[in-house]
Amino acid sequence: MKSLAVFASGGGSNFKAIHHSIISGKILGKIALLLSNNPNCGAVQFAEETGIANAIFNNSRYPEKKNRDDAILEILQDIEPDLIILAGYMKKIPDSVVHHFKSRIINIHPALLPKFGGKGFFGMKVHQAVIEAGEDRSGATVHFVNEEYDKGPIIAQENVIIDPQDSAESLAEKVLKIEHELYPQVIKAYCEDRIIWKNNQPKIEEAIEN
Ligand code: GAR
Repeated sequence: MKSLAVFASGGGSNFKAIHHSIISGKILGKIALLLSNNPNCGAVQFAEETGIANAIFNNSRYPEKKNRDDAILEILQDIEPDLIILAGYMKKIPDSVVHHFKSRIINIHPALLPKFGGKGFFGMKVHQAVIEAGEDRSGATVHFVNEEYDKGPIIAQENVIIDPQDSAESLAEKVLKIEHELYPQVIKAYCEDRIIWKNNQPKIEEAIEN
């Protein structure tokens, strides 16, 4: 069984969907730790309610960035998770963590990367930009994390159609719905060693049915 560490900052609906897929037996993994910058967010509250260990790293607890980054690396090295999952985490992962856990950190982004990604594109800002650009579709992207925001190799994407009457809010709802399907599928594949690399690109291998 794979050990998982999850980072989240917000409502935590992806974190809850992942947890649900674990307790229903779909994902063969265990959430060892939830890390957050926001002690009052829904994800931390859910971790408390479900007995998942959690740890907060923010400016008020660690005013010095270097100390904060070192503390994040240290706690992750203590548990050495097989996979680190960014589930609505609105801060940059320290480079030291990215180096140590190379190809073991994944993120979900609420748009079809490489469009609408990079610094400043997070949460509702992404959906606002997509609507303002007059796109007729958006979606969700799961990718490996490297040192650059939203630039790591793409593992999987799923589309949603944008209707003319859609607002940023209604688009966010549509995209979240597919995130809750897509992210558990990718994590399940990772936990079953079904993410393979071909020509430096990750790809999900189909599960073999018994
Ligand atoms: C999700 O839409 C996720 O893709 C996005 O934040 C939302 C978190 O929702 N992540 C980013 O924008 C990261 N750049 P949740 O807290 O309900 O899972």
